[in-house]
Amino acid sequence: MHKRKIFITIFIIFCAVSLVSENFCFGGTDDDSWKASPELVAKLTRRRSETNYDEQKVPEYTLPDPLIMSDGSRVKNAQDWTSKRRPEVLELFKTHVYGRAPIGRPKDMSFKVFDSDKQALGGLAIRKQVAVSFTGEQDGPGMDILIYLPNDRKKPIPTFVILNFGGNHTINADPAIKLPDSWVRPGTGIVDNKANEQSRGKASSRFPVEEILKRGYGLATIYYGDIDPDFHDGFKNGVHPAFDKLSEEKRPPDAWGSIGAWAWGLSRAMDCFETDADIDNKRVIVLGHSRLGKTALWAGARDERFAIVISNNSGCGGAALSRRRLGETVKRINTSFPHWFCENFKKYNDKEDELPLDQHMLIALIAPRPVYVTSADEDLWADPKGEFLSCKNADPVYKLLDRKGLGADRMPGLDKPVKSGTIGYHVRTGRHNL
Ligand code: GCU
Repeated sequence: MHKRKIFITIFIIFCAVSLVSENFCFGGTDDDSWKASPELVAKLTRRRSETNYDEQKVPEYTLPDPLIMSDGSRVKNAQDWTSKRRPEVLELFKTHVYGRAPIGRPKDMSFKVFDSDKQALGGLAIRKQVAVSFTGEQDGPGMDILIYLPNDRKKPIPTFVILNFGGNHTINADPAIKLPDSWVRPGTGIVDNKANEQSRGKASSRFPVEEILKRGYGLATIYYGDIDPDFHDGFKNGVHPAFDKLSEEKRPPDAWGSIGAWAWGLSRAMDCFETDADIDNKRVIVLGHSRLGKTALWAGARDERFAIVISNNSGCGGAALSRRRLGETVKRINTSFPHWFCENFKKYNDKEDELPLDQHMLIALIAPRPVYVTSADEDLWADPKGEFLSCKNADPVYKLLDRKGLGADRMPGLDKPVKSGTIGYHVRTGRHNL
């Protein structure tokens, strides 16, 4: 009798503890995975009733298997992936999503270093500015690359490359940074789409240059509007007309859109780094935020010279799975930004299940190189869980190539980055920002 009482008491204590601690026993769960705040879901749904923000309403879907060839055969080893399936997946993205850009380094492209200062940023940095002409013509399309390297290190230096939204002069207050000549987005103080002094240093919170340099890395940045202004003008401005091969004045349905052009521009920056002995061109990390996060992923997928790829809040057409249709959808993005992708992508408006790919295969194209995908808690438009699931579903390709892949089976908790594998993932507190 006495023993029974003790047993029952222990059992009651055990159950009570289990109830309060979700991590404790079989009845509970150790799942601290991030979930969107119900209040935020409700608020965003009220704001945009046509958009689904609710995990419960994600439709059922089946993802294409990255390791099954279009003819149905299975990719058995690394050799199959590298020589057959990877080129096939790359083709699928060119044909259906980003379009086809010119291949390789343009034969007449030229670089001119127009600024070089070994005592920039109070002596911390070497600053260089390089004018790139894509066609070698003085007034043809081109871009300016701004480069900061730590000046107290052994060379060559591993370097981050990132496109910026407002002009190179916005990333730091350094008065020597050249203003862009090209079109800039409308904004406070901007008249006639021309950059001016008012925006110098305005985006510096996104570009901790000094911190990056002190950690031994370089930073290179390019204004994305130099490559292609971000508005739809039928591809008459920017780099497109210089390379488009029109048939009867028409662009083919797989012609490159703006994301394709921006990614192509990053590869041209890589061509430039290959001629610069100060930059370690085997350790160039491509990074981007939002539409430029989509761009960083596509740049890293198509150009294997990028050693690491980082996408921040890239969402639809970036790291997020299209088939989930949570937050921004294929139709929404193609309607708001008709110039970002190729014409063929519009065929999948409301028909995501017909895509012969999904965005996990974009991440797989980066394998075996490291990739880091980051989401923000409040940025449901970019579908944090969909970004995580792309990483998870790219994992088998990394494993096939003998890499650790993603070091997690399920969505991590908020502010608990998964960083033990070759695919990293992080959902942080905060909004859509870098
Ligand atoms: C919009 C767009 C997103 C994009 C973002 C940005 O919100 O819908 O797809 O990532 O702009 O680039 O800022």
